[in-house]
Amino acid sequence: MKYLVINGVNLNLTGKREQSVYGTETLDDLNKKIAEYCEKNGDTVDFYQSNIEGEIVNKLHQAFLEKTCDAIILNAGAFTHYSYAIRDAIASINIPVAEVHISNVHAREQFRNTSVLSEVCKGVICGFGVGSYIGAIEALKNR
Ligand code: DQA
Repeated sequence: MKYLVINGVNLNLTGKREQSVYGTETLDDLNKKIAEYCEKNGDTVDFYQSNIEGEIVNKLHQAFLEKTCDAIILNAGAFTHYSYAIRDAIASINIPVAEVHISNVHAREQFRNTSVLSEVCKGVICGFGVGSYIGAIEALKNR
């Protein structure tokens, strides 16, 4: 399998921002663990991060139009809670997308309980740090 991991807004600051919520590992640290996991299983993985909503939409379109991957793991950050543009992009592509979050969004502020993306994703994993991404990879593989 070929996976694409997309991280959205503010995820570039992982390991530096709100460490009590998101931990001390950087996004590069997390990506390294995901890459090692994929390599061990004979899979390949690409990574993309952007703070710009439209760039994430473009990346989803590109994956579809150029068939760059078999499945997508998406942590859209705060875009999760209100981006109908990303939602429609996920609905437009015939690639399975898993929604993931480092933190348990259901144990936090009320606004994080709403995801406008979940309905068009294959599933959601949150609260397990890097394990959310690896769990999603495993789940997508076994679909
Ligand atoms: C997050 C949860 C979101 O609510 C938040 O806006 C983020 C990160 C997570 O990975 O836990 O930026 O997606």
